[in-house]
Amino acid sequence: MSINWFPGHMHKAQKEIKEILPQIDVVIEVCDARLPFSSENPMITEIRGDKPLIKILNKSDLADPKATQIWLDYLDAQHNVKAIALTTLSPAIAKTIPSIIKNLIPNKDETGKQINVVIMGIPNVGKSTLINTLVGKTKAKVGNEPAVTKGQQRIKLEDGLYLLDTPGMLWPKILNDNSGYRLAISGAIKDTAFDHDDIACFAAEYLLKHYPTQLMKRYQLKELPEQEVDLIEAIGKKRGCVKSGGLVDFIKASTILINEIRDNTLGPITFEYPDMIEKEEKYFLEQEIKKIAAREAKKSARGRGRKNKR
Ligand code: G4P
Repeated sequence: MSINWFPGHMHKAQKEIKEILPQIDVVIEVCDARLPFSSENPMITEIRGDKPLIKILNKSDLADPKATQIWLDYLDAQHNVKAIALTTLSPAIAKTIPSIIKNLIPNKDETGKQINVVIMGIPNVGKSTLINTLVGKTKAKVGNEPAVTKGQQRIKLEDGLYLLDTPGMLWPKILNDNSGYRLAISGAIKDTAFDHDDIACFAAEYLLKHYPTQLMKRYQLKELPEQEVDLIEAIGKKRGCVKSGGLVDFIKASTILINEIRDNTLGPITFEYPDMIEKEEKYFLEQEIKKIAAREAKKSARGRGRKNKR
């Protein structure tokens, strides 16, 4: 799947972040707890250098709690990283963020100097909602479409502690194709950027393997088919998505599945695990290297061909 979704203002945001970074003490990255790897921005690791990072696994109410714990342990083990799970259902946890920040840079807090923090994350992970919770009143605009936060704002969190909100950023090319699918399932990528049936097939294949009980319960299926296409057809039949001639309306059934994943009707689901990601990354990197090598070989063959003609 090829996703090309990189609004112009995100280029600007990247430039702005690089400019303000020298004044930043702690970076807060908000990710989606259902896809902590695919919803992170690889650029953040590169930009932040050695600055402490608070990694927030947000919308944890939508994620599988066991998987969230696995991710928290995995991320906490990384250098200069503190990971926490958040949800709007427990706003009190978000209120502990100022003390987490101060613990990460105890020396600066003791000198009484101003602490500057930046919140980053791809669109729709819940940055604005989190800022509203932290500030206690509606400061940041919350929206129902990805990439709604277009301007930057600096917000006083408490005396001596400032938050800089930035527009979300998404990398222009996702190297791991599966990450593109997972982002689409979660709603981070606009619905116009992909085909629902393609995304639903990816989701169905994963759910058949990892969440069979939830599927059977939700769609009242006595047994599950082996193939993802058959699962979507079964969902369509159960929901009356049948066209004249008795054919299942595959797009309609796919949309039902995607929507019910997104709105938590199917129950909490996590779409990736650290070990799974490590394997995938290795695979996609090898594919990319092969592609580059094939391109180079083609180029030099063309060069040789031109020389021989002369
Ligand atoms: P952004 O700034 O990163 O782009 O995200 P934003 O805060 O605008 O949030 C995007 C959507 O995610 C909003 O839903 C918001 O309510 C929802 N959201 C934020 N935090 C959580 C959470 O912890 N759990 C769940 N389940 N959802 C969360 P929306 O449908 O766009 O708007 P609305 O539901 O607020 O009307």
